[in-house]
Amino acid sequence: MIEAEYDAFYHYRALMNWCRGVGFNLAADFFEKESQDELEHAKVLERYLVDWNVIVKLPVVESPKVSFADLVAGISDSYKMEYDLYQLYQKKVKKVFDMDVTLFGVLQERLEVQLKAVIEYSDKLNMLEGVDLNKTNLLLLESKLF
Ligand SMILES: [Fe+2]
Repeated sequence: MIEAEYDAFYHYRALMNWCRGVGFNLAADFFEKESQDELEHAKVLERYLVDWNVIVKLPVVESPKVSFADLVAGISDSYKMEYDLYQLYQKKVKKVFDMDVTLFGVLQERLEVQLKAVIEYSDKLNMLEGVDLNKTNLLLLESKLF
């Protein structure tokens, strides 16, 4: 789970850079905040383990995709990543339910955060449905999306 949170941090960092580079500055600010949030999520999990006297092995984080076809591709990739992470947390929550009530609570909180993220990106994609996705329109919609 910790590795997945670091992967998410890197994804948003790369997306922030790409957005800034092509002039979507509001999106870049949004994804910067997202990347910081992902680091916080990793920290929560690490802290839980450290408090149980576990020596936390930090993961090697793979280099993320750094270039996107357009802003919508970046949002779609984010939606997919958040949905995958939601499913991963759901699997873990189910697994620990009968094993460890405290860990269940920690993971349950993470699952709720994931659900909010999935809904947020789904809403963005819904807003873009039926829109002619040229850069001009996306720049005009940027303040509504972010
Ligand atoms: Fe996260």
